[in-house]
Amino acid sequence: MADHDISETPHACPSCPSPEAAPAPSRRSFLMSMGASGLAVTGGGLIPRGQAQAAAPAAAEAQVPATAVPLAPGEQTVNLVVNGAKRSVNVPPNAVLLDVVREKLGLTGTKKGCDHGQCGACTLHVNGTAVNSCLSLAVMHDGDEITTIEGLAQDGTLHPVQEAFWAHDAYQCGYCTSGQMMSAVAILKDARIGRDDASVREAMSGNICRCGAYKNILAAVQSARTNMPKVS
Ligand code: FES
Ligand code: FES
Repeated sequence: MADHDISETPHACPSCPSPEAAPAPSRRSFLMSMGASGLAVTGGGLIPRGQAQAAAPAAAEAQVPATAVPLAPGEQTVNLVVNGAKRSVNVPPNAVLLDVVREKLGLTGTKKGCDHGQCGACTLHVNGTAVNSCLSLAVMHDGDEITTIEGLAQDGTLHPVQEAFWAHDAYQCGYCTSGQMMSAVAILKDARIGRDDASVREAMSGNICRCGAYKNILAAVQSARTNMPKVS
């Protein structure tokens, strides 16, 4: 594990299960654990377009302005706009963006896989650009706009990429899915990336799916292309 002090999240790579871990969750319960974040799962199933519920903040503490919390020695306040809402967090200089998003802001839809920039599970958007959040320090993002998987659905409606992943069954365990979808959204907005399958595969190659759902992921990305919101 990296030496940053708030990164206590155990390695949760699906291919490296902890021996003392509880029995593996079912695919359904795991997807539910993504909450409204990834695929708008609530209760017993996915909510179709038009009925998805807005994601509730995962942690009440994240609503408390950082200015209300005394700075610990060495910490500094970082102001962010996260999924459209202003958030402030006090973090040490070595706090990794992924850990801050998950542990300070309570947005656990963004996953930690390799923690070394090699799997794409931690992909989120910084000012509209997809980044591996495990490789970025939070203090570098003061004033930035962060979009996580919890921010894709708008006004109770799933994003076209979320709809397409659901329609094409583009996941198995679901661990990589939020990162796959965040990369897909960025790729579909990037006019420099070709529309053919080979170009999409190449552009998505930083997102590893250990379940091998690549065929369906590609189909979902291509399917979502026609329904993407127009970029102003
Ligand atoms: S957790 Fe694997 S690239 Fe960030
Ligand atoms: S790693 Fe399991 S669905 Fe991609």
